[in-house]
Amino acid sequence: MGKFKVGMIGCGFIANGKHLYAMTQRDDVEVVAFCDLVLERAQASAKQYGTPDALVCQDYREVVTREEIDVIYVCTPNSTHAEITVAALNNGKHVMCEKPMAKTSAEAKAMVDAAKASGKKLSIGYQNRFREDTLLLKSLCDQGELGEIYYAKAFALRRRGVPTWGVFMDKEKQGGGPLIDLATHALDMTLWMMDNYEPEVVLGSTFDKLGKLGSPANGMGPWDPAAYEVEDAAFGLVRFKNGATVMIESSWALNMVSTNEAMILLAGTKAGADMFPPEGQPRDGLHVRINGEQNGKLYVRNYAAGSGLYDKSGKREQFAGSIKEANAWFDSIRDDTELVVKPDQAYVVTQILEAIYQSAASGEAVRMG
Ligand SMILES: NC(=O)c1ccc[n+]([C@@H]2O[C@H](COP(=O)([O-])OP(=O)(O)OC[C@H]3O[C@@H](n4cnc5c(N)ncnc54)[C@H](O)[C@@H]3O)[C@@H](O)[C@H]2O)c1
Repeated sequence: MGKFKVGMIGCGFIANGKHLYAMTQRDDVEVVAFCDLVLERAQASAKQYGTPDALVCQDYREVVTREEIDVIYVCTPNSTHAEITVAALNNGKHVMCEKPMAKTSAEAKAMVDAAKASGKKLSIGYQNRFREDTLLLKSLCDQGELGEIYYAKAFALRRRGVPTWGVFMDKEKQGGGPLIDLATHALDMTLWMMDNYEPEVVLGSTFDKLGKLGSPANGMGPWDPAAYEVEDAAFGLVRFKNGATVMIESSWALNMVSTNEAMILLAGTKAGADMFPPEGQPRDGLHVRINGEQNGKLYVRNYAAGSGLYDKSGKREQFAGSIKEANAWFDSIRDDTELVVKPDQAYVVTQILEAIYQSAASGEAVRMG
């Protein structure tokens, strides 16, 4: 097989910051098309990462219909994920779509169906699955170290971390705030660890208390309160068919000192686990902590996972896991092997997030399928 020929749709923050860098570390990938509504962004990405004669355009249809392209990346705002992904699949392309999978579960279902009908691969950009701490915890779960996991928490909490670029505060374009944007990662990690994709009942609350006030202390610069249309915090409780229960906590702005993002806590019959550093120690890359009882004594065991969301100096790594994500993706296409991040799994994440929004709006619990 020759080189993969890739088309990038949406040439903003995530395309440049994560995917283009990660995929071009491989010598069997060529990026041959760049599309963005803002032509200069497509041109700039093409200049840095593209082949000399790469297509640069503003209409994604030019990319998805281009014969030579095998793989499409969808890195546009959430409201466009389904339309572009389905069009690409229908044109016989493999698709890596950024998270969240889609704005609604109906859109996500259309993506799953299009992937099945086309026989092409579809995956979602959950790079946190490929962090070293996540992979270590997943292997412990798969080996049965925790026993049956019946309680978990998915953390997506920022004290003040409203994304101020792009369209993140635009409800129509994004579908929501921290829940759909951040909690999608932590919930994906949680379900993957528990290997439980059968939610039964969902209860949720959303708040818009601080977003409309604005904050000069925001980590990503001040935002315009008048343009802030989404929730600033959201919380959910999910009970699964087997009784297992997951709590989801998410915020872009919340008065809480102890915040954690893309982190999870699991409690099983044999042991519990979380991804926090040892008590009182800095976030220095040690993020798997197992607790339990052995010979009548309680224990806590810290695993050195190498790297987690934070590097060894405690600085947050941008898109930790992204090179492994790219390698897993292209290897699975090349070898026609199972994907790590399967569309059916991301579909269930989408359903749960949507149910939390529905429950928050109606004040009622939402029963699922
Ligand atoms: N995996 C992660 O951790 C992570 C982090 C940040 C963003 N994201 C996701 O990536 C997506 C994009 O976010 P971003 O931060 O890169 O935003 P961004 O605004 O920096 O980039 C999006 C780009 O898409 C372009 N665009 C919009 N509609 C288009 C269309 N119809 N056709 C072609 N181009 C179009 C915009 O002009 C913009 O340049 C979002 O879905 C977001 O949730 C994921």
